[in-house]
Amino acid sequence: MQLIKLNATDSTNNYLKQLVLEGALEDFCVVAANHQTNGRGQRGSAWVSEKGKNLTFSILKKGIAIKPSEQFLLNILVSLSIIKSLEAFNVPKLSIKWPNDILSDHYKISGILIENVIKHQQIEYAVIGIGINVNQVVFDGLPKVTSLKSILPITVDKDELLTKIIDKLKMYFKFYYKNGSESLNLEYESYLFRKDKPSTFMSPDKSTFTGIIRGVSPSGKLELQMEDSNKEFDLKELKLLY
Ligand code: BTN
Repeated sequence: MQLIKLNATDSTNNYLKQLVLEGALEDFCVVAANHQTNGRGQRGSAWVSEKGKNLTFSILKKGIAIKPSEQFLLNILVSLSIIKSLEAFNVPKLSIKWPNDILSDHYKISGILIENVIKHQQIEYAVIGIGINVNQVVFDGLPKVTSLKSILPITVDKDELLTKIIDKLKMYFKFYYKNGSESLNLEYESYLFRKDKPSTFMSPDKSTFTGIIRGVSPSGKLELQMEDSNKEFDLKELKLLY
């Protein structure tokens, strides 16, 4: 495995994207940093992680051969790889808060930021950024966040967890190329946080509404059963309140 370990960088996603432009890198090349000075999260948020405590890394995936319209599949493969790796360490009550926050019980333990580079209507490559809270135990101002150290009786070796995630991801890609996406969608949906439970959501205008999460469409939209109809939403259109 091509693994580049950095003491510090702004963001491993940024670093890897720059590196791809500069030279030939292997498929599944990994850049991991002890510290990110400008870690990035979903929706333009910051990903803050205490120096040296957690896993912050990015994986290069080349030759994906998935149409941009089907790019949500990448979220599925990556989310499942993390879930299965954490299950191997007996992390309890794992779920995926759509689209790809990994929770243990109600607390976020891992986040994913996938950046696709599209060329000729195909994903040329993807930079898959993953943050996992491993040894940090204080999360100031973040009441819904936790770490492996806070919930497990053992200390998890960061390198072992990273290797496991890469192995699972390779396995899931192979599975997809051989069998297609149908069973993977079902597996992803089986982990969906608050699936089949009435939940409250907030719209961009801050109004709230209720609905029941039933699944995720092939394009990655959240499928909600509402009072008198079924509707699909994208990430900008709602926020789950929990
Ligand atoms: C989120 O949940 O908002 C996504 C967080 C993704 C964080 C990881 S840490 C490694 C990689 N580099 C970044 O700048 N972000 C991702």
